[in-house]
Amino acid sequence: MDLTTRYLGLTLNSPVVASAGPLTSKVDNIRKLEDLGAGAVVLPSLFEEQIQQEQQLIDRLATTGADSYAEALTYFPTVESYNIGPAAYLETIHQAAQAVDIPVVASLNGITDQGWVQYARQMEEAGAAAIELNIYFIPATSNVTGREVELRYISILKAVKQAVKIPVAVKLSPHFSAMANMAAQLVEAGADGLVLFNRFYQPDIDLAELTLLPNLELSTPAEIRLPLLWIGVLSGRVGASLAASTGVESSDQVIKYLLAGADVVMTTSALLKHGAGHMKVLLDGLRTWLAARDLTTLDSIRGRMSQRNIADKTAFARANYIRVLQGY
Ligand SMILES: Cc1cc2nc3c(=O)[nH]c(=O)nc-3n(C[C@H](O)[C@H](O)[C@H](O)COP(=O)(O)O)c2cc1C
Repeated sequence: MDLTTRYLGLTLNSPVVASAGPLTSKVDNIRKLEDLGAGAVVLPSLFEEQIQQEQQLIDRLATTGADSYAEALTYFPTVESYNIGPAAYLETIHQAAQAVDIPVVASLNGITDQGWVQYARQMEEAGAAAIELNIYFIPATSNVTGREVELRYISILKAVKQAVKIPVAVKLSPHFSAMANMAAQLVEAGADGLVLFNRFYQPDIDLAELTLLPNLELSTPAEIRLPLLWIGVLSGRVGASLAASTGVESSDQVIKYLLAGADVVMTTSALLKHGAGHMKVLLDGLRTWLAARDLTTLDSIRGRMSQRNIADKTAFARANYIRVLQGY
């Protein structure tokens, strides 16, 4: 069976990619993921804050949840191991690129186009096959307009594209008011791929202590629906690769994302929950499903359930409450 797929102009042995997270921060794990069939790996992000020697965001990322959710203790890296700084980050890229044949994608996290863009070039020089731009920006002040948010994404992308020759993917927020238009703007500005979506940390409230709990829950399969919708709408309509990210638990979600039109399907939470070996479980499930239907390539299913390829074009876009309620 041929699971090869194209992503960002690269040929991958399989469509399942280990997305940014603690597991991909270690070269040993990256080697293991390659052996288990991963098509590529995305390293955790090098944060703008790290580059500027400010550590607030990454400190929060790495420590939140660990006290409030016992199970989470095993998921989260220590600040020291995750926040390794630019020099060590570049060294990890270099070592990983030497150690494996699959593409090693570096991730840059930033909210401005100043100061840190040079690291994109250094990532390229260190051996990254591509860059994923993780633009983690929550416009929590009322004077920032939607258009300004869009332009911020575009200007960061343009600055990074100018700095490197390797492909650049943008990991997007799901919160644009006109997602299809935003996708088109990013592709116009040079994005080689779109990763749908970034998963923002959302606080909870501790009712006993009356404190905010910025703890992080790992994703569940129910969360595939929003990315599935937009992958399905954009498939075949944008001149860029599409990566699905969020909610993969079993091969069912991998298959659904491919049917909607994803070129690759990414997973972080499931690998943290079940270990790197889960990569093989996902791929075996995909192979079994294809074999049961006498299908031998991904091209036979990719985008088959996209908006472009289904008869009822409105199924992706219409509020279907009436139809759903008729069943009750
Ligand atoms: C502990 C943890 C650390 C993460 N670190 C990063 C990161 O450094 N950069 C990034 O772009 N995404 C990061 N993510 C987000 C994941 O790459 C992924 O987009 C998100 O978890 C949704 O996918 P999933 O449902 O498969 O987990 C992290 C997720 C987790 C759970």
